[in-house]
Amino acid sequence: MEDQESAHEYFGAIAEEYSSLVERAMPSYQRMLSAVLEYNPTESQSVVDLGCGTGNLTVLLANSFPDARLTALDGSAKMLDLTETRLAPKSITKVVAQFEKTSFPKNSFDLVTSCLALHHIKAPERFFKRVSNWLRPGGTLIFGDQFRSAKPEHDRLNWKRLVQYWNEPGHLSEQEQGSLERHREKHDHYIDLDTLFQYLRSVGFCEIDCVWRDGMLGVVSAKVA
Ligand SMILES: C[S@@+](CC[C@H](N)C(=O)[O-])C[C@H]1O[C@@H](n2cnc3c(N)ncnc32)[C@H](O)[C@@H]1O
Repeated sequence: MEDQESAHEYFGAIAEEYSSLVERAMPSYQRMLSAVLEYNPTESQSVVDLGCGTGNLTVLLANSFPDARLTALDGSAKMLDLTETRLAPKSITKVVAQFEKTSFPKNSFDLVTSCLALHHIKAPERFFKRVSNWLRPGGTLIFGDQFRSAKPEHDRLNWKRLVQYWNEPGHLSEQEQGSLERHREKHDHYIDLDTLFQYLRSVGFCEIDCVWRDGMLGVVSAKVA
């Protein structure tokens, strides 16, 4: 699967084992998902989950906003099918598309969310500009992701802690670690929070905040004026 061309092809090839893998690979994954939910606005009518994977965040969104129209987007049709099955009988709008080529009409959503997916975008500034158009005035972008630290030594410490976690009993085999390392080198584009905040501000977001953080993981919230 390492020879796959893109991040969504990589994840599509491991779709069945993804939910188990992410739990064993990311120490604070559940806490990050909870934070995305906790810092959400209380009311949302139209919600999109970008890079839904197997639906770990989508399911929580469906529970939080039972009456909202829910859209799940992923580059992998296999991932979307797994999400749809988990959500049934609730119906969702499935969009098989790459972030870089996705377009929604202006003012489509009042909440745009994502978890562990947007760091696959090489040029996020342009992408966030499009997200700001998809949101209605007053709408919120909130997403959890993996970020670069401002100081290289903090990055080194975070990676050391992560590899220690991978090596704990029951976590990742050597083969899984190698696969994730190769995926990271090929497909991951981490940015630091300062740069992200500048991008978001420059495309019209306000009230930008990192509402939760644990090492390399963080949850960022921002509003469209
Ligand atoms: C690490 S998984 C995260 C899944 C889920 N959001 C979660 O919290 O577990 C990243 C997901 O983003 C999708 N993805 C990665 N790059 C993408 C792209 N450029 N366009 C669309 N989807 C992409 C992958 O197919 C995968 O399902």
